[in-house]
Amino acid sequence: MLYYRQRAIDQIVILTGAGISAASGLSTFRDADGLWENHDPMDIATPEAFARDPALVYRFYNARRRQLEDVQPNSAHRALARLQAALGDALFLVTQNVDDLHERGGSEQVCHMHGELRSMLCLHCGQRQPALPQFDRASECPCCEARGGLRPDIVWFGEIPHFMDTIETHLRACDLFVAVGTSGAVYPAAGFVQLARSAGATTIEVNREESDVAGYFHHHYTGCATDQLGLLVDELMAGRVG
Ligand code: APR
Repeated sequence: MLYYRQRAIDQIVILTGAGISAASGLSTFRDADGLWENHDPMDIATPEAFARDPALVYRFYNARRRQLEDVQPNSAHRALARLQAALGDALFLVTQNVDDLHERGGSEQVCHMHGELRSMLCLHCGQRQPALPQFDRASECPCCEARGGLRPDIVWFGEIPHFMDTIETHLRACDLFVAVGTSGAVYPAAGFVQLARSAGATTIEVNREESDVAGYFHHHYTGCATDQLGLLVDELMAGRVG
């Protein structure tokens, strides 16, 4: 059993966003110099953009996938892995991030609701598979050998995020909900705090600044995730009994 500020906690849901990977050197989307400052998301991250200018979309995701080779998980990813190792199934980790830094930081179970850079989807055979380091319209699907059907396995604007039923089940059952490094600008993830809170959970925001949904959180750990998440995880581990 775990206690957070005298409250017994049986199930925790942690939602992460781009802010947790910022200290590793990956740009967020909406901060100054963020990815969406230099690109209009409607030109890149929609099915319509992919139909209109696939070369641009492939280039954007190939570059982001290549960037993963130059970055390392930071202490915030590792703190979550430490908590997960201690709590097992009592912790459900869901991320909007498409990088693989949680896994490389030691987390074994990660729910990628917005897809993964290191995965690709073949529209011909329907297979999700490990992404080729770089791919485009001319690339051949390793599975069905057809060309022209590979797309980044990313959930774009206008598409439904993955695993929503599972995520909702966990949100309704949790006693503690923590959002780390996410602006609260994109639904459905931005609505998770309200769902968890209305189901009775204590809610915590870890962020450098207040998110768009800051008012729904009971507690705020304000600052860089690398410092603040370590503090929160230490506090949770100190509250373990048995
Ligand atoms: N520590 C903690 N928080 C940070 C840090 C940091 N070092 N750096 C930035 N942040 C916070 C910012 O204050 C901001 O609230 O991280 C958040 C980043 O917000 P966004 O750039 O909007 O990223 P995110 O919330 O993950 O975006 C959601 O938008 O375009 C889509 O699909 C994309 O999954 C993404 C979704």
